Amino acid sequence: MSLDFDDPGATVAFTLNGEAIALRAAPQMRLSEALRELAGARDVKVGCNAGDCGACTVLLDGAPVCACTTALGRCEGAEIETVAGLTARDPQAQALADAFLRHGAAQCGICTPGAMVSAVALLRETPRPSEREVSDALGGVLCRCTGYRKIVEAVMDAQPGAAVFEGGVGASVARLDGRAKVTGAEIFGDDAAPGDALVLRAVRSPHPHASFAFGDLEGWRAAHPGVVAVLTAADVPGLNRFGVIPGFIDQPVLAEGEARFEGEAVAAVVGEAASMAALDLGGFPVAWTPLSAATDIDAARAAPPLHPERPGNAMCRGHVARGDAEAALAAASVVVEGRIETGFVEHAYIEPEAAWARRVGGRVEVTCCTQAPMMNRDGLAAILGLPPDSVRVIPTAVGGGFGSKLDLTAQPLVALAAWALRRPVRMTFTRPESMRVSTKRHPARIALRVGADAEGRLTGLAFDAEFNTGAYASWGPTVANRVPVHASGPYVVPNYRADTEAVHSHCPPSGAFRGFGVPQAAAALEPALDALAERLGMDRLAFRQLNALRDGLPTVTGQVFESGVGAAACLDALAPHWTRALAEAEVLNAGRGATGAPLRRGVGVASGWYGCGNTSIPNPSTIRAGLKGDGRVALHQGAVDIGQGANTVIAQIFAQALGAPLSAVDLIGADTDLTPDAGKTSASRQTFVTGEAARRAGAALRAALLRLGNVSDAAEIVLEGGAVRLVEGGALRQLDLAALPVDQDGYLLQVAETYDPPTGPLDADGQGRPYAQFGYAAQIVELDVDLALGRVHPVKVTAAHDVGRAINPVLVEGQIQGGVMQGLGMALMEEFVPGRTDNLHDYLIPTFGDAPPIETLIVEVPDPHGPYGAKGLGEHALIPTAPAALCAIRHATGAELRRLPATPERVLAAIRAAGG
Ligand code: FES
Repeated sequence: MSLDFDDPGATVAFTLNGEAIALRAAPQMRLSEALRELAGARDVKVGCNAGDCGACTVLLDGAPVCACTTALGRCEGAEIETVAGLTARDPQAQALADAFLRHGAAQCGICTPGAMVSAVALLRETPRPSEREVSDALGGVLCRCTGYRKIVEAVMDAQPGAAVFEGGVGASVARLDGRAKVTGAEIFGDDAAPGDALVLRAVRSPHPHASFAFGDLEGWRAAHPGVVAVLTAADVPGLNRFGVIPGFIDQPVLAEGEARFEGEAVAAVVGEAASMAALDLGGFPVAWTPLSAATDIDAARAAPPLHPERPGNAMCRGHVARGDAEAALAAASVVVEGRIETGFVEHAYIEPEAAWARRVGGRVEVTCCTQAPMMNRDGLAAILGLPPDSVRVIPTAVGGGFGSKLDLTAQPLVALAAWALRRPVRMTFTRPESMRVSTKRHPARIALRVGADAEGRLTGLAFDAEFNTGAYASWGPTVANRVPVHASGPYVVPNYRADTEAVHSHCPPSGAFRGFGVPQAAAALEPALDALAERLGMDRLAFRQLNALRDGLPTVTGQVFESGVGAAACLDALAPHWTRALAEAEVLNAGRGATGAPLRRGVGVASGWYGCGNTSIPNPSTIRAGLKGDGRVALHQGAVDIGQGANTVIAQIFAQALGAPLSAVDLIGADTDLTPDAGKTSASRQTFVTGEAARRAGAALRAALLRLGNVSDAAEIVLEGGAVRLVEGGALRQLDLAALPVDQDGYLLQVAETYDPPTGPLDADGQGRPYAQFGYAAQIVELDVDLALGRVHPVKVTAAHDVGRAINPVLVEGQIQGGVMQGLGMALMEEFVPGRTDNLHDYLIPTFGDAPPIETLIVEVPDPHGPYGAKGLGEHALIPTAPAALCAIRHATGAELRRLPATPERVLAAIRAAGG
């Protein structure tokens, strides 16, 4: 009998992972929704619901399809396979899963089910695929974390071979949470909600600036069966504001009479899941009055203030000065000017924001994808008018988070509704909703002048930057303050002035995004350094080596590091690659010039540095650990792993300090009720700060165990078979665990250690000690430019990164490669335009086909503060990439790009402006 596609109560029968099932649902329902919500197959992930990201890929009769664009009815009588079924039953898929773990091919893991399923389909046809075949077969899957290279390596190496989950500092241990990622068992934001939860949808402003008034809300609710409540600002019991920086808590949970950017939430509609799916919000009773909108910096300066206390829409300023920049520039042998404008850049993590909440007596529990559980807890408590300990935040796995998931997103709305309605409430942003309202990388307008003496030493730099910070503060103050500290790059600049200003506009808030404004600053500086070197007749790498910051020399804030400065070491590591790349480019370009071919090879180099942790303010992390009665050790690790590997790296550090195998450690992940405050996952601080707290906790627990056994520090600790044995000088002592008292948390021994990096305040000229540690990087980008079309094709990236000590080299490589790809996206294709690019087919991010080979060079200049010498890495991975790409385009064509991204039209225009 054929299926009636118009029958909303049809029964669709098919085979799911070898089991016959029948779902009663409308045949037009998305297969992804049917699998997740009706069949419980939450290993099928949803990133866009539009067939753009491929996260939902499943096999339909052996062929990969996007489950979000496949109708359930099409599956009648078919065989559907998902990643969970494949990895449970198919040896080839199991070998692939092991290869993913060995190669570190899953970072956050949200794209992994789609990539794995697509790869299984390929491997069934082509057991030994070429790189090109892998890239083509997986081309429909977007990954925002890995840079694609490790996924390609894993698919090409899909042979049996178990991943290793054991090892101390320096070992490329497989990600401890990796098995769940490669089997689809990982729980992300939208996977955690109970099936009977109410669903919340936000009513959002269709205008960048408008006043509004509600009509008959109760009448509208009553006319829509299944709608349980409509919430507005009047229903917020506490503070109708959230934010992240004290003094800048300015964004309403629900706007009050005026919306300041397109997509701002003004009301929340809550109802039963079945009703909410079909609910048309088009008739929601709200009357809009559009107002004039200022969406760029110049218009915003002239517009009435969005916030009355901030005249001229100037939210905040940053300033650092050292020596006399103007006098130095006046006396310099050579002075070059640099300018750059950049647009909004979207995070484009594949997992949209999601949360669910429930009221438990006098408390509320919020389960969500977040980078900052304790900050979220405190913000939610203020919104609900509750003490902080009445709110529990339980982070799920985070399907990509590069800064935007530090802010509150869906959490306040579901918490508000669950508190008021006393029922579980869930919300998952749609892809367009996510892209309209999430925070962005700040658009920047930067001008600088930089000078050098006749020997090529930098003498002075004057730097001015304006940032479009959008309608609300978010992390804008941090960007305005960080950039002046970093705008010199990791170079010695004795005379320096940097001023920044962040300006409000009727755009989505700009906020934290990998680098906090430093990538934009580097994109202005590095091409200017190329121009200086050229004027001085110096090699561009040698010029940077000459000026690189070194131990014992002051930074632009006057800070002097006596050890651990790896800027020159990164440049030195690149030297042979630089020589090779320039020679190849010369030969290639000579040949192309002779034949009239329009391609030109360009080679660019750029440096980067980044202060790890908060700027000049306390920044502690605490780690707690306990010995259990079964002889195992519990590690309470509250640093959220957003794919960068904190769960693994921090456990490795702890186990190393304890002197016990990693396999003896049971990880208790972030949960504000269970784990002490490890701060937020941002500013490249977790390996450094929480890692050092973990090292101290491991050492403290070790000392306590040794004390208990009355043995010296030289003793070996053996944790196995439910026993604790201490071995020293051939003698063995077994602790009598049964005789030890159990504390209130169920532990026989318990330790908690806190680490707060030593920083100091900055004076009015920004002089002082902003960070205890910087990380350093330098990268070479090789690319081809099509002189006729303006197209730019990256050929290779060589990335040297000083990480102090690579705790886990494979995870280090993965961070670097992912950052490089985000940097190439920023350089060449990514620009968010409010109101126009709110999906993943109009907003382009790099794909498998865009990923060039990336050679990673791990440099280890130990840091005196970091655990085992380790430094942060997350932000550093991206900072030099776009500047190096700009330098390479300049090298290939002579063109000075003044606007990012370097789209073909802009490249062509710059080539023409340069006389090409
Ligand atoms: Fe691919 Fe995060 S690992 S999107």
